[in-house]
Amino acid sequence: MKPKTVFICQECGRQSPKWLGRCSGCGGWSTFIEEKEEAPAAALDLPESDPVLFGDVRHTAKERWSSGMEELDTVLGGGIVPGSLILIGGEPGIGKSTLLLQFSRDFSRRDNRVLYVSGEESLEQIKLRGDRLGVGAGALYLLAETNCERFLAHADKIRPQVLVIDSIQTVFSAGLSSGPGSISQVRDVTNQIFRFSKTRGIPAFLVGHITKEGSLAGPKTLEHMVDVVLTFEGERDHSHRVLRALKNRFGPVSELAIFEMTGSGLSVIPNPSAFFLKERPETEAGSSVVCTFKGSRPLLAEIQALVSSTLFSGNPRRMTIGLDHFRASMLLAVIEKKLGFSFAGQDVYLNVAGGLQIDEPGVDLAAAAAVVSSLGNKPIPVQTAIFGEIGLSGEIRSVNQPLLRAREAAAMGFQSVICPAGNVGQIRKESIPGIDLKGVKSIKEAMDYMF
Ligand code: TYD
Ligand code: MG
Repeated sequence: MKPKTVFICQECGRQSPKWLGRCSGCGGWSTFIEEKEEAPAAALDLPESDPVLFGDVRHTAKERWSSGMEELDTVLGGGIVPGSLILIGGEPGIGKSTLLLQFSRDFSRRDNRVLYVSGEESLEQIKLRGDRLGVGAGALYLLAETNCERFLAHADKIRPQVLVIDSIQTVFSAGLSSGPGSISQVRDVTNQIFRFSKTRGIPAFLVGHITKEGSLAGPKTLEHMVDVVLTFEGERDHSHRVLRALKNRFGPVSELAIFEMTGSGLSVIPNPSAFFLKERPETEAGSSVVCTFKGSRPLLAEIQALVSSTLFSGNPRRMTIGLDHFRASMLLAVIEKKLGFSFAGQDVYLNVAGGLQIDEPGVDLAAAAAVVSSLGNKPIPVQTAIFGEIGLSGEIRSVNQPLLRAREAAAMGFQSVICPAGNVGQIRKESIPGIDLKGVKSIKEAMDYMF
């Protein structure tokens, strides 16, 4: 008898008896792949539990282990929760394996056993990288294996404190016939690891690749199955990497860590503001400094703008790197309307230096200032940091955390801060010595003040 097959959307897991060009679940195109119909994964044999009265539930803080990497602990919300499943997503080559090997190095140094299962690289390759990272003595076990049942059997024997699986897309369960990386496999394997982790209290890190579109390859369901989802991002051509939480059942998702990829692995950038400002041309037109926010941390960054006449008549170019394109277009429209400039026949380029991505509205005023500065070829007064959201009527709107932003500017040696008038009260309350604070109500007022 011909085995029954079913078509499964590789994005969202929807099943269909026949191939569909477009998934009716998630709207993805060409996401259906034919897989053999498999028996559903066995239900988890977790210990049974009885209903408990709300008032009787004890509030005990979850036990946490330090990973040995302070920044990783912060992003995890204070350390690793025993038995938790942590997914680390990122593009190929961004440094996921490096990060986890470094973690394994630091964690095993503290008398912990770590089992690092690699389905991607041979032991020699991992060893080479480990030598570069200075992995020394310590109970760090390596295993090149893609068969899920087999590596879980090893894990059961070794009983590591932490299990690392690099990557979830390369491992497979012998019980299923579909190939590694297919949705049934990823789901089944994750289920097995989940069950193993919960029953043994052994936390596991899973590496997940990210597709070109920026979503985790494989099923969206993977994100629902794990306790914590971290992403590791950065531009390949820049050395900084940002690790942050997208989901955390045991803590906040606001924290992030910024690393630099060096010749000997990832090192923490102790002062991100200094890192992102280090090559700033202080007296050139078209450059401004914004006090922005990344996670729960204020960060200074340089915004660069270049306004130049369009060479070929026709459509002038609007390019943004690191800023939202639509927001930038809106800013240009507000500048035209409220300040009387015209960008017809002008190309406008906007860039956040250092490959940083800023997606909060507090950057508006600094971006507008950089554009106006480039247009008029007048530099922004030196030692000035800027933040504030711009509304469609040209009004400057308050943003969150003004005090922390202004403090960061002061700490980096800036002498003046231009900010929304509505935020000034919050900042003055705890005055920051040595900072000249200028609150502005409109984009016109801000530009008149600067230029
Ligand atoms: P890797 O951890 O293999 O990425 P991923 O697992 O996310 O695919 O990192 C790959 C890149 O990092 C590779 O281009 C080399 C670079 N790298 C360094 O620059 N320094 C180092 O010490 C190491 C180990 C890697
Ligand atoms: Mg890797």
